[in-house]
Amino acid sequence: MSKVKNSTPTIIVIFGASGDLAKRKLFPAFQNLFLDGRMPEKFQIIALGRAEKSDEEFRNYVLENLNTFSRKATLSPDETKNFVSHITYLKHDIDKEESYHELNSKLTSIDELFGIRANRLFYLSIAPSFISTISVYIKKIGLTPNVSQDRIIIEKPFGYDKTSAIALNEMLSQTFKEEQIYRIDHYLGKETVQNILAFRFGNSMFEPLWNRNFIDFVQITVAEEVGVEERGGFYEGVGALKDMIQNHLLQILCMTAMEAPASLGADDIRNRKADVLRSIRRIKPEEVDHYTVRGQYDAGFIKGNPVAGYRQDKGIAPDSNTETYVAMKIYLDNWRWQGVPFYLRSGKRMQEKQSSIVIQFKPVPHSSFSYGNEGMTPNRLIINIQPSMDIKLQFMTKKPGLSLSLRPAEMVFDYFQCSTMSPEAYETLLSDALAGDPTLFMRWDQVEQAWDAIDTIQEVWKNNAPVNFPNYKAGSWGPEAADELLARQGHAWVSNTATENEKVK
Ligand code: BG6
Repeated sequence: MSKVKNSTPTIIVIFGASGDLAKRKLFPAFQNLFLDGRMPEKFQIIALGRAEKSDEEFRNYVLENLNTFSRKATLSPDETKNFVSHITYLKHDIDKEESYHELNSKLTSIDELFGIRANRLFYLSIAPSFISTISVYIKKIGLTPNVSQDRIIIEKPFGYDKTSAIALNEMLSQTFKEEQIYRIDHYLGKETVQNILAFRFGNSMFEPLWNRNFIDFVQITVAEEVGVEERGGFYEGVGALKDMIQNHLLQILCMTAMEAPASLGADDIRNRKADVLRSIRRIKPEEVDHYTVRGQYDAGFIKGNPVAGYRQDKGIAPDSNTETYVAMKIYLDNWRWQGVPFYLRSGKRMQEKQSSIVIQFKPVPHSSFSYGNEGMTPNRLIINIQPSMDIKLQFMTKKPGLSLSLRPAEMVFDYFQCSTMSPEAYETLLSDALAGDPTLFMRWDQVEQAWDAIDTIQEVWKNNAPVNFPNYKAGSWGPEAADELLARQGHAWVSNTATENEKVK
């Protein structure tokens, strides 16, 4: 969001610099910001890891991975080498005070080199269980004393329920002020997610229709083809509700349903999002089955290739009850949305990778037209977040010919037509964190409300083992019960592509 480039010299400290996130996302993002001239002139990345390594060894490791994971990998080898020369490796033991003293000396020596007290950005790319230890030592050694200069980025999951999130936040607040804490949800960095705000509040023609008077229902889908890959150990204790719904899907819901902010200032936007989370109708334990569906994938085929079931995947218990799919119906108790169902679904090993929002408008009150074989298609606005990045408006037109019958048509805005090289989500978010713009990061009350909205569901699921897992085939669109969830209200999951292919997901 931030237009302002941070030009203050900055030191970035990455805890877990040898980990998966760092190699796939963080280093490529910093490299692309560097190549785009978005890094401050003076900056240094201190990469912390357990193993003994020289700067040279670590830089070579980063170089190799940039070749694989960076969107600009092939563009400029010299500049890439120039980029890695800004990286210093430091062996670090999270549990040892001594390591933090060494880090402190390193920070001070870089400040001296820069001739100024640099900004400090700490990135915690580590398992949540280490956050507390790191935070305690950062306070003890005094590594982040300047509220306006020193920041910390925390990855999700932020806690595992509301109670643990409150405890984590209280612990962090002993070391950091709220304005120093940047809780990341990478979906908020995606171009197409940010575009929801631009689309809604940069145009006058959609907003008057954006409410219960005109909208029949809203669907938000984040479907993945991948399974749990190498992350079985992590995913087993988490599941789709906490991994995807509590954060990514609720954030998309906020962007879709929020009121217009008074300004684009961080707090104005985050206030309006927090309102949405607060207005999610809390359901009673005995209603959980009525409003939600959970699923787990069985063996199946994705694009013709056989894939194993979740329980056969690496690191997964053979009798695991972790859900890999969630569908749910949400109501927002406010003036704008009263009575409009928001259907959310997310799953792994689905038929195709697809993140989209479908806004389905109410049917015409009366029509004398005939509709050929396709039937009447309600007006829809479809916002494709990924991998397609487009906005489609579907409406009825006259079928060419002598009779006055109708057929569906659509108008499309395709992101790829105006830009082939959008920044990656992490580039946007890191650039904002460097510039001290927290707009796209989760404020504490948002995280708390998001947990509050799903805590009852996870509690009920924990205490009532599913009886039918696995209940959907890899390569399908999830359990049948998810179709029934909508069918009860005469609705169906809508394809994000074809107008002709009405009822096909
Ligand atoms: C992460 C989840 O936050 O988002 C993963 O932990 C998931 O399980 C990923 O695969 C999806 O992100 P993206 O950007 O690939 O849609």
